[in-house]
Amino acid sequence: MLGRRVPVEIASVRTPDGRLIRTLRVSMDDALGRTLPDVRREVETLEGFYEGFVERCRSMAVAIERQAAQRRSNRADPRLYQTLGALIDAVLTDNEHSMFFITGLAAWLRRDLGLSASAWRKLLQAGRAYRRKPGGPGARHGRRDTPPDPKHIRFRSLRRPDLLLMYRWLNTPVVARWWRPAPRALEEVTATYLPCIEGKRPVDEAKRPVDCYIILHGQTPIGYIQPYRVKDHADFWAAFGVDQDAAGVDLFIGEPEYLHRGLGRHILTRFVRDVLFAAADVSCCLIDPDPENRIAIRAFEKAGFRYVKTFESKEYGLHYLMRLDRSDLPPRSA
Ligand SMILES: CC(C)(COP(=O)(O)OP(=O)(O)OC[C@H]1O[C@@H](n2cnc3c(N)ncnc32)[C@H](O)[C@@H]1OP(=O)(O)O)[C@@H](O)C(=O)NCCC(=O)NCCS
Repeated sequence: MLGRRVPVEIASVRTPDGRLIRTLRVSMDDALGRTLPDVRREVETLEGFYEGFVERCRSMAVAIERQAAQRRSNRADPRLYQTLGALIDAVLTDNEHSMFFITGLAAWLRRDLGLSASAWRKLLQAGRAYRRKPGGPGARHGRRDTPPDPKHIRFRSLRRPDLLLMYRWLNTPVVARWWRPAPRALEEVTATYLPCIEGKRPVDEAKRPVDCYIILHGQTPIGYIQPYRVKDHADFWAAFGVDQDAAGVDLFIGEPEYLHRGLGRHILTRFVRDVLFAAADVSCCLIDPDPENRIAIRAFEKAGFRYVKTFESKEYGLHYLMRLDRSDLPPRSA
């Protein structure tokens, strides 16, 4: 019958011994115009990061249940519920994937979180309303007009479940504007960072980071930072007369509610002191934003970096090279 949404099975995921883990079904309307290899590719990508995403959602759902039990009512703090809804809503609406992807993700997630259709709808509605509210998900971390306390900045290694987060961050307008190279599609993000997580291959051949780190504010992942050694990229840097024993760093704050709130310089100072200069043979630290990136330049100046020169590379265009020596590091209390 015309207009009827007929469910079609498009992919099943099985264990190596053939046990069915889950089946992805979509409606016939969504299936029209797609070739099977397209669909398979998308499903494989989905499978690659899905576990990590579910893990995050599930731990939030557990926190909601625990809170509700503690309060001896059926209600947890509504902000927690809204945050979970906002997280799911952001992924379902912000990505560039087809309806296949979104329908599949939504169906699996609802099932794996054990939600009824109406509970799922309510969760998404709460999340969507919360995302639209002035100040957005910032309410989760206290009042929007209270700047985040730099005392809570920490770093940890990038992990597989963070790929989805990286994907979301790299697609925010501010990061997409200034981060080079800028993988956007989930496949590109995975191809760029997964080998680094698994220790197999550099993130990018020209400026290979030693490691990849997530920036945390308390327990909340808020951005990404990567150190590299100039000597590991001698070919790239030699042309610009940079010291071979220098280290470099690139970073972005991906969570919009932590951006442009004064954290950047503290993140940089902390990272440079605790990670880069922890290696005795590092003489100085470099950073090379785009010359038009005035906010970054200002934040880096506040962290003690000084302008060296502007140069152009064929890979990234113009670099506004800045440098910080050990002796320039602000005192620990700063
Ligand atoms: C670069 C970055 C880490 C800086 O961190 P931040 O916490 O946002 O920076 P700050 O809040 O400390 O702001 C830096 C300066 O820019 C100013 N600034 C903030 N927003 C601004 C705006 N919209 N327009 C003009 N100046 C602005 C601030 O006032 C501050 O200067 P001040 O302290 O003298 O007033 C962060 O903005 C970021 O991740 N940007 C996207 C990715 C990126 O550019 N990475 C750098 C690649 S090397």
